[in-house]
Formats: sequence, C-alpha cells, structure tokens
Amino acid sequence: MGFTFTNLLELEDMARAKVPRPSFDYIAGGAEDEVSLRRNREAYEKWTLRPRVLVDVTQRDPSTTVLGQRISMPVLVAPTAFHGLVHPDGEVATARGAAESGTIMVASAIATRTLEDIAAAVSAPRWFQLYVWKDRAVTADLVKRAAAAGYRALCLTVDTPFLGRREKDERNAFTLPPGLGIANVRPAGLDGMPESERGSAFAKYVAELLDPSVTWRDIAWLRSLTSLPLVLKGIMTAEDATLAVENRANGIVVSNHGGRQLDSTLGTLDALPDIVAAVHGRAEVYLDGGIRRGTDVLKALALGARAVFVGRPILWGLALGGADGVRAVLQHLRTELELAMALAGRSDVSQIDRSLIQHV
Ligand code: FNR
Ligand code: LAC
Repeated sequence: MGFTFTNLLELEDMARAKVPRPSFDYIAGGAEDEVSLRRNREAYEKWTLRPRVLVDVTQRDPSTTVLGQRISMPVLVAPTAFHGLVHPDGEVATARGAAESGTIMVASAIATRTLEDIAAAVSAPRWFQLYVWKDRAVTADLVKRAAAAGYRALCLTVDTPFLGRREKDERNAFTLPPGLGIANVRPAGLDGMPESERGSAFAKYVAELLDPSVTWRDIAWLRSLTSLPLVLKGIMTAEDATLAVENRANGIVVSNHGGRQLDSTLGTLDALPDIVAAVHGRAEVYLDGGIRRGTDVLKALALGARAVFVGRPILWGLALGGADGVRAVLQHLRTELELAMALAGRSDVSQIDRSLIQHV
C-alpha cells in the first residue's frame, strides 16, 4: 500500500506533503474563521464515555444496517467532490476501497467520474448524493440515471444554496486542473468551471448553476421522479429534522458540511441529541463532521446516530494509496471501533445506548 500510519489524524500532514497546495487547501478548508470546522472536533472532547466492565467481549460485531442494508460497520463514506484532484482513478478507486471494506460509498453528484463509471467498477451497494441544478431537466436526469445504475438511496444535500466562503480557495482562485470536470453533467455541457482571475471558480460555478430556490416543496418533486429512499444531508436543528420527517425523509444526516458552509454552527455531535429526540425513531439519523477515532463513532451512536459518514480521511487515504489507501482508512477505523466497543463493554452495536455517554 506504500504508507503506514497509527491514526487517521496523522494522514492530513502526510497528504499535505503529496497533494498540490490548492487541492489540499480545498479539501482541508472550512468556511471563514473555521469555527464550525473546529467545533466538530472539539465536540467529541465534551462528551465522555461510561464504560461497563466484566462483559464477555471475545466476539465483537460492529456490523449494522442502514435503510435495511447490512454493512460491516456503522461508518459510510461521505460524499465528497472531485476525487480526481488526488488520484488518477478518482471516485472509481474510492468506490473499490469502500466495497472491499463492506460499506457504502455516497457518490457525490459533482464527482470527476460518472455515476455509471463508479457503478461499473463495484457491485456493492452505493448511495447517490444530489445537488439541484437550476436546469431541473439536468437534475431529473441525474436522479433517473442514479436509479438506473443501481444506487440504493438518494441523498439530497440541503445546506448548500450557495457555497460557503472558503477563504483559502478564494486566495488560491481554486479551480479544477485541465482534464478534470464534473463528469455527471458533461452531456449537458455543464462540466467546466467558469473563468476566475480572483476568487474561487468553483464558488462561482455553484452560484451560477446550482439552484438556491429549492424548498421543502421540491421534496415532493424529487419523490415523483424516483421510488428510491430519500436522505436529507445537512440538518442542524430539531425544527428541520421534524420537517424532514413530515416530508417523509427516510433518513437525515446531521451535518454542517465539514464546517465548509455556514460558519459558527454547533459541532455536529452537540447538535445530535435534540435532533434524535425530535425524530423519535421515525427516520434513521446519521452524523458527519470530524469523525477520526473509533471512540468518535461510539459517541455518535451512543447519542442516537444509526451510523456516521467520514469525509476528509477518505481523501487522505485516496491521495496516499488509492483504493488500498481508502480501504486502510476504513479498516483502521473499524479496528479502533471494535477495540473501543470491547473496552466499553459492548459486543454489538445494539448495546451502544445513551447510558454509555455523559456530557462533561
Ligand atoms: C465535502 N462535502 C460534500 N458534501 C456533499 O453533500 N457533496 C459534496 O460534493 C461534498 N464535497 C465535499 C468535498 C470536500 C473536499 C469535503 C472535505 C467535504 C461534505 C462531506 O460530505 C461531509 O459532510 C464532511 O466532509 C464531513 O466532515 P469530515 O469527515 O470531513 O470532517
Ligand atoms: C464542497 C461541496 C462540493 O464542500 O460540497 O466543496
């Protein structure tokens, strides 16, 4: 595989040494003062574990189900854009790494490989993440193509009417290098970034081409296009979680987009308890943001998440080792989770409940 590591946090510096600066900054960065980004990590230190002892943990089973699908552990690959920035095989390599790890990759709408290429590479279950283009025919076509290519769920990202201001990207005038584009919308001629001498070309793309007018009413429109289960990603309040359930979402992702959209939100782990209470078992609740340790996964599950998504560490793994690197990242997280479960006196995920956690 070509690289060794003792924990996922180390991977960021290792990737920094390998990935061109503008791409590294795009991946690592958050919006504005990066308060949301930092709070995601800080939240895990504000919650503490209450281990039980003298439990037989000879056998540990971290597997679970999401939307009825069995996966090897409660960790999915978050949708992240432009994998071609860090590896020539892009999302195809990521999909292989996820499939070999027995879990689900959520393929981003704005991938550098098409959703069909990804589907052709792996038969394992995948979800498709959707952004809504102003051109609704383009959007509808993506939904239909995702269903046709065997994706098992549609994950609509709801926190991105515009791109958050990532100041590093503005300074770098971040754009895609020649040869890379948003492959899924190449047939519609929407794959290229606009010219930008100053500021992020990608932020301009989003402002020009994605639809900031999307509301709850459009959920019915999406439902009319497909019978795939619907997951809403980017919910941060109990109010919106309640609306999601009322609009018959099958799942929600508690997420501040890895601190890349609105700055100065809560860390996602701190937002989770109210949302879990509001949803009250009527939809599956997932969480992402700052998951780097097995104990982070344990804490999210203890507060009621069914599973978590991991974003940046997957990209570090991809940059450092392609599909094998992605697999190594997921395998490492699984190993840490299994040990954390054992040390907490839990042999399977059904035993991870609220009694395992306490606010500091
Ligand atoms: C993202 N994220 C994201 N989300 C989404 O719904 N569609 C997308 O295309 C992207 N693209 C994207 C690119 C990059 C480089 C990053 C880092 C993130 C957000 C992602 O799904 C997830 O919410 C966060 O990455 C989770 O936080 P961590 O695990 O990166 O801390
Ligand atoms: C991002 C978008 C693509 O976070 O979701 O960069």
